[in-house]
Amino acid sequence: MTHPSAIPAPIAMLAELTYRCPLSCPYCSNPVEMAKKESELDTATWVDVFAQAARLGVLQLHLSGGEPTSRRDLVDLVAGARDEGLYTNLITSAIGLTQRRLTQLEAAGLDHVQLSLQGTDAEMADHIGGYKGGFDRKMQAAAWVVEAGFPLTLNAVVHRQNLHQLPQAIEMAVAMKARRMEVAIVQFHGWAMLNRDAMMPTREQAAEASRIVAEARERLKGVLVIDYVPADYHSDYPKRCMGGWGTTGLNVTPDGLVLPCHAAQTIPSLRFDNVRDKTLSDIWYTGAAFNAYRGEDWMQDPCKSCDRRKLDFGGCRCQAMAIAGDASATDPVCVKSPLHGKMQAMAQAFSEDDAAPLVYRKSP
Ligand code: SF4
Ligand code: FES
Repeated sequence: MTHPSAIPAPIAMLAELTYRCPLSCPYCSNPVEMAKKESELDTATWVDVFAQAARLGVLQLHLSGGEPTSRRDLVDLVAGARDEGLYTNLITSAIGLTQRRLTQLEAAGLDHVQLSLQGTDAEMADHIGGYKGGFDRKMQAAAWVVEAGFPLTLNAVVHRQNLHQLPQAIEMAVAMKARRMEVAIVQFHGWAMLNRDAMMPTREQAAEASRIVAEARERLKGVLVIDYVPADYHSDYPKRCMGGWGTTGLNVTPDGLVLPCHAAQTIPSLRFDNVRDKTLSDIWYTGAAFNAYRGEDWMQDPCKSCDRRKLDFGGCRCQAMAIAGDASATDPVCVKSPLHGKMQAMAQAFSEDDAAPLVYRKSP
């Protein structure tokens, strides 16, 4: 186990306030088995968790879900987080966000809004979100967010079905005066794993997306910052998932489990602590799940002897679990993994499956 003195404090915490959501996006990263409303943490427990997070060193609090505005106590939660000095970011589809609630959130000290985009027109957005009329409600709420003066990030998850709209999505971010945009090619965890065949981009689409982002970054310097998560199934090196396991951030589920990443529950050997039983500090520094893949001791070859191991920490543990069946294996995205060829062949086969239906996410 890594000695606690060698473990950095986390910078960010993702609080998944609820898995309830009016949308049914097939790319959702929430688990297939979701905690129900009755088991959600109450207001006082969440605020206590925020206070513990601030003492632990967390600076940014991402309020997420599901759809966080489904929590009736959202304004109280934001106020509690701000009282602890946390920078608060609301990650929302904006469906269900009223102008009155936005005003209350502003008064409570909300710092930032991150708005998800399912498509650039009603036809695509309502199809992907599984909610008729959702796009128009989102655009209305986006206008209120801009009017209220919140710093805005637009978050576009792109995939085979909507990648052709990427240029328009970037133009929408500029028109909305968003300061940042996150373009994320769908990552296959949680519910999205059920939709790999329907959503896997083709290799050509993945390359075209990288070209479009590179061109837009150059053209929009000083106007819009674009963060980009490329299509890793089509890549040769893996991403540094979560900035490194147990180094940067932590997730708390609606029922209080503390996870090193949002998909960690797909690793069957791990056991997770709950904020109802232990302090956040204890969980971060000594929790078995957090220490399972910290540092390099757990690595196997080729990662163990690779000179990129401090850059990417061997990639994504959940992806290694999903494809290699071993969470301590090299992420199969990597060219050095014996499964790299299989991964590329899977990507190609999924991307050619034009008959695959979308499996819409169900709310708990
Ligand atoms: Fe990263 Fe491991 Fe591949 Fe090296 S072998 S590049 S450390 S995933
Ligand atoms: Fe869990 Fe990458 S999603 S480590």
